[in-house]
Amino acid sequence: MKGHVLIFTYGCQMNDLDTQKMYTLLARDGWAPTETLARAGLIVLNTCSVRQKAYEKALSNIGRLRPYKRRNPSLVIVVTGCIAQQKGAEIMERMPHVDAVLGTHQLHRIAEVARSCAEGNGPVSDTEMSPCIPSLDIVPDRDFVSPPHRAYLNIMQGCDNCCSYCIVPSVRGRETSRSHAGILAEVREHAARGVKEIFLLGQNVNSYSGGASFPSLLREISAVGGISRIRFTTSHPKDMGPDLMACFADLEKLCSHIHLPFQSGSDAVLRRMNRSYTKQGYLGLISGLRSARPDISFSADVIVGFPGETGREYLQTIGLIEEVRFDLLYSFKYSPRPGTKAALMEDDVPPDEKNRRLSELQAIQKGITMENHRALVGGTFEVLVDGQSARNPDQVHGRTSRNTIVNFPGKPGLAGTFRNVKITRANPNSLTGERA
Ligand code: 5AD
Ligand code: SF4
Repeated sequence: MKGHVLIFTYGCQMNDLDTQKMYTLLARDGWAPTETLARAGLIVLNTCSVRQKAYEKALSNIGRLRPYKRRNPSLVIVVTGCIAQQKGAEIMERMPHVDAVLGTHQLHRIAEVARSCAEGNGPVSDTEMSPCIPSLDIVPDRDFVSPPHRAYLNIMQGCDNCCSYCIVPSVRGRETSRSHAGILAEVREHAARGVKEIFLLGQNVNSYSGGASFPSLLREISAVGGISRIRFTTSHPKDMGPDLMACFADLEKLCSHIHLPFQSGSDAVLRRMNRSYTKQGYLGLISGLRSARPDISFSADVIVGFPGETGREYLQTIGLIEEVRFDLLYSFKYSPRPGTKAALMEDDVPPDEKNRRLSELQAIQKGITMENHRALVGGTFEVLVDGQSARNPDQVHGRTSRNTIVNFPGKPGLAGTFRNVKITRANPNSLTGERA
């Protein structure tokens, strides 16, 4: 054994999956995972730079590792992910206790780089971007996947859209799709091993182009026996075409939920964001999806305080939220990201006003989520059990097809099975129920 490895993950589900892949590659090379910082001989920070907050948190945690390195000079520290891609070797210039920086297209090199640093071969920095991304095809060992009945698959990486606020195209590169034959082979392997739910991931899954369109890929996955549920994230409204909508009408295994970020409800702000749709266009997609799948639930991302956002424009966002009635919203205060178009605009909404808009929006959304949850009380839903509830050992938790979390009495052995649950209580972030 080479020693113990601990990976810290920041940011999105794509990063969570990349972390599982790195644990897999490192374990194959003799590193044993640990959760104890003091025990680790190798620490990887898998970072995010999509918003200022995530960026600062990761950077300050890298800084905090300095005393560990001073006490244990053989400790290897590697920075990966979006900050690694954005800053490259500059990270090691500012923080010399970092041994290596690996960009978003070089993740497959993690074991080789860790080994070389552990052998004392000096710093490594590789942020090369290539048209093919070898790590897309890595399948994490099931030991590192939780829960084991759900498999996350990266079907594409990168983004060819140019939303003016977004750093993703520069840190993840151009859209690169994994081959559709490779994806299907992996899905079949998972099905043979008892996986029930396939969760497709990518910065923009619905512009997938790996030898089949995204809707055909969904249809093919749906035909694989043993798989009961399919989910995907994240999507851009511009690629939400009729073929994809038809999947929600035709494919029973496709869950009744979609994450469809709208970012703003003001056409003027959407134009400045370069989002290529209008509020009416977005609402048209929502009603099309509701016709295809009447019980569908929606979640989305929204930004407040974009440059030049007036009080009226902000209220148009609130209007959209009240019209759609999302189950869940991820809401953010705008922060300028270096190198983006919006960073050249004046960040003129004062911080206090951004905070006010964000907390008002979140309070409104909280009320809507609670009302949506209350409307489900008395109904019976099929729940895929994920495991024991953290707060109550006599209960288990799982998700409905609409992606709502449900807690109900049960033993941990129910994990990975489907149960019909009658909803008895609505909570702010979940439902409570009993076996039907
Ligand atoms: N400021 C605030 N929020 C941002 N997002 C992306 N870039 C920024 C930014 N510069 C949000 C968007 C995106 C989510 C992942 O993060 O809502 O959908
Ligand atoms: Fe963060 Fe975006 Fe990178 Fe995910 S892809 S880690 S959200 S910057």
